Amino acid sequence: MSRPKPDTAVPEDPAWKSLRLDELTLTRKEGFAAFAEAPDYPRPPDMTMVELKALGPAAKEEHDLARRRFLANLRPIKTVQADGLIADLTDVLEAGLDQPNWEAKGMAAVDAFPGLGKTTVGLSFAKRVHNDLIRQHGRFTAAGHERWPVIRVGMMGDTTVKDFNWAMLEFFAHSGRNSGTANSFLSRALDCAVSCESRLLLVDDLQFLRFRSIRGTELANQFKTIANEFPLMILFIGYDLRKKGLYEDPQLERRITPLELAPFTIKNEAGRMQWRSFLLSLEQRVVLADKYPGMLADDLSDHLYARCSGHIGSLMTLVKRACLRAIRTGEERLTPDLLTHVKPDRAAREQQAQWEELLASGMKTSRPRNHRKQG
Ligand SMILES: Nc1ncnc2c1ncn2[C@@H]1O[C@H](COP(=O)(O)OP(=O)(O)O)[C@@H](O)[C@H]1O
Ligand SMILES: [Mg+2]
Repeated sequence: MSRPKPDTAVPEDPAWKSLRLDELTLTRKEGFAAFAEAPDYPRPPDMTMVELKALGPAAKEEHDLARRRFLANLRPIKTVQADGLIADLTDVLEAGLDQPNWEAKGMAAVDAFPGLGKTTVGLSFAKRVHNDLIRQHGRFTAAGHERWPVIRVGMMGDTTVKDFNWAMLEFFAHSGRNSGTANSFLSRALDCAVSCESRLLLVDDLQFLRFRSIRGTELANQFKTIANEFPLMILFIGYDLRKKGLYEDPQLERRITPLELAPFTIKNEAGRMQWRSFLLSLEQRVVLADKYPGMLADDLSDHLYARCSGHIGSLMTLVKRACLRAIRTGEERLTPDLLTHVKPDRAAREQQAQWEELLASGMKTSRPRNHRKQG
C-alpha cells in the first residue's frame, strides 16, 4: 500500500509572512528600513529526487514557489570586487563619522557598466551603515529623534535641484514637501539629516543627470553645499560619470574619490580562482534536487563565462532563469543543453560567440590550473 503523499513541504518563516520585499520602495525611509532589517529569505529544504517525487501536487507546487522566491531574494554573494569596494567606501565613511559638522564630509563615486552590481553593493553598504549605527547608538538620538543613518535618493531623467531636494524630503515623508522653494526644501532636508543624525546619502543612477546642462551645474553646486553643510558622506552611483562631466567641476574633482567595480576576468590565475570561488558559492545557493558538487564550477565554468563575459548581472539572470526552467521541466540540474535554451540579454549575446571561440580553441580557459579537465 502506498503512503499518501505529504501535502505541505515548506514551513513559512513568520518574519517573511508579513513582509513582501518586492512591494517595498526604497524612496521612503520605512521601505529602506524594512529592506535593511529584513531577515534572509528562508532557504527551502534540499530534497533528493526521490523525496521530491514523493511530494503530493500541492506540496510540490508550494516547494517550487518557495524555491522561486528564494531565488528572487538571494542575498548578495561575496566577491573580491565587492569586498574591495566596500572597504574603500568604509574608509571614506569612517573618516567623516566623528568629524565636527562644519567640516566637509567625503564623497565617493562608483562608476561602472550597468549590470556589474553597483546598486547591489551600494545597498549592501548602506544596509550595513544603517544596522551598525543603530546598533551602536540606538534607534533614537540623544535629543529623542528617530535615528536614520541612511538617506537614499534615486535620480530620474530630468532631475532639477528642487526635485532632488523634494526626493530627500520624500524619503523622510516630511510634511513640508508639498510646497516651498528649492532652498526651503534644502533647509528642511538639512534639518532632517541633522536631527536624524544621517551619515550616508546614497544617490543612485546619477548618469541620468546631464552635468553639462544648466540644471547639471546647479545640481553639482548643490552637491557641494550638501557635502559642506550636511553631516554625511555622499555616495554617487552611476555609469559613465566621468564622460558625462561629473569631474569637470574642479571642486568636485578634488573632493570625490572615484571608485570602480570590475567584471570577472579570466586573464590570469588569480582572476580564474575568483571566478571559480564565485561559482562554488553560487552552486551552494542553487536548490535543485539533482545538482552535484562541481555542476557550475567544473562542468559549466567555460559555458557560463562565455555567456556573461564576466558580468555578474548577466550571469545571475541566466542562472536564475535556468534554475526555474530546471524546476519546471523536472530536470532538476543545470546542463549546457538546458542553459542554451535560456535567452541571454543583448550585450551578453553580442560577446558570446567570440568568447565561445576563444574558450573552445583552448586559447583561453576560465578554470584555474588545478581544476582543468584531465586528458
Ligand atoms: N554580489 C552579488 N551576488 C549576487 N547577485 C548579484 C551580486 N551583484 C549583483 N548581482 C545581481 O546582478 C544584477 C545586476 O546588479 P545591479 O546591482 O543592479 O547592477 P548595476 O547597478 O551595476 O546595474 C542584479 O540582479 C543583482 O541581483
Ligand atoms: Mg543600478
